[in-house]
Amino acid sequence: MSTAKPGFSPWRFCVAPMMQYTDRHFRYLARIMSVHARLYTEMVACGALLHGDSDRFLKHADFELPVALQIGGSDPHELARAAILGQQAGFCEINLNVGCPSARVNAGQFGASLMANPNLVADCVSAMHAVVDVPVTVKTRIGIDNHDSYTELATFVETIAAAGASVIIVHARKAWLEGLSPRENREIPPLRYDIVRQLKWDFPHLTIVINGGIESIEQASQHVDTVDGVMLGRASYLTPYVLSTVDRDIFGSTKQRLNRFEIFQRYMEYAQREIESGTYLRHLAKPLHYLFHGQPGARQWRRHLSEHCTASSAGIEALATALRWVERAVTPEPMAI
Ligand SMILES: Cc1cc2nc3c(=O)[nH]c(=O)nc-3n(C[C@H](O)[C@H](O)[C@H](O)COP(=O)(O)O)c2cc1C
Repeated sequence: MSTAKPGFSPWRFCVAPMMQYTDRHFRYLARIMSVHARLYTEMVACGALLHGDSDRFLKHADFELPVALQIGGSDPHELARAAILGQQAGFCEINLNVGCPSARVNAGQFGASLMANPNLVADCVSAMHAVVDVPVTVKTRIGIDNHDSYTELATFVETIAAAGASVIIVHARKAWLEGLSPRENREIPPLRYDIVRQLKWDFPHLTIVINGGIESIEQASQHVDTVDGVMLGRASYLTPYVLSTVDRDIFGSTKQRLNRFEIFQRYMEYAQREIESGTYLRHLAKPLHYLFHGQPGARQWRRHLSEHCTASSAGIEALATALRWVERAVTPEPMAI
């Protein structure tokens, strides 16, 4: 099992929960690249976990750990039951989604809309905290709609921290619950890193993780000077190879960084086992789409994966043959020791 590097916060570098992306295959790929990054599942709705195919939502390989299970919901009793399932399944953290602005999510009274009700979030946190040993954490925004003053945010943080959330992950944008799509809510409201830093200043005993608009490991390493950790979302699936520098540049590891081909080979071994146990190739191919981003042949590589790996009958050789498009991709510069 991967562990946090001694001396560093376990949240020092996190890969964000992203629906449709951070499934167990993506996480496996991420873990090949970084031993120390903390990974998150896609958000799982509490009801789906309790009343749906929970095995599917909870499935993961030990190799992926440490992984946090992110849950969406607002019923304290149900969340407590879901948290127990998550802990029993082996997740190292239960994270409550208080940041997603999608209308679908708000109709179910969860996600960012909960920021308007700090006491309810506190009840949810405390119900989960009471029944699991792993940390219960919250991922949130800096505000919603017109509830966007620093005082309101600080009250929110204080209230949920008192209920047992010692780690707060903050997407440094407010969310507009009406009028902006989830995608626009990730782009239009301005980034306010200063507000997240202020939180760390005002709540030094809490672990504060900053998220939003961080595009490179270089930027991430600047943030960890001012807060406890950073969380990378889109950059980790659009340019996944950046994760291969996390252990070196964020955790000071001197271990040799893998090149894209080595990463691919290791992932292929995993994919082979998964195919044998009935996983469709298209699910396994998806995390690989951007592995060669920026390299010669990257577009053809992506097209090959889209065209040859989607049929239910597609076999592992369809992945192997994609490599011919990127033969000229460069290996990384040798690591300075
Ligand atoms: C495709 C996609 C799916 C997302 N799904 C979730 C989710 O399930 N739970 C969550 O808390 N945030 C979700 N987010 C938001 C991200 O976790 C992150 O907060 C946001 O993208 C900002 O970080 P970034 O600028 O590094 O991408 C999602 C974002 C994207 C792009």
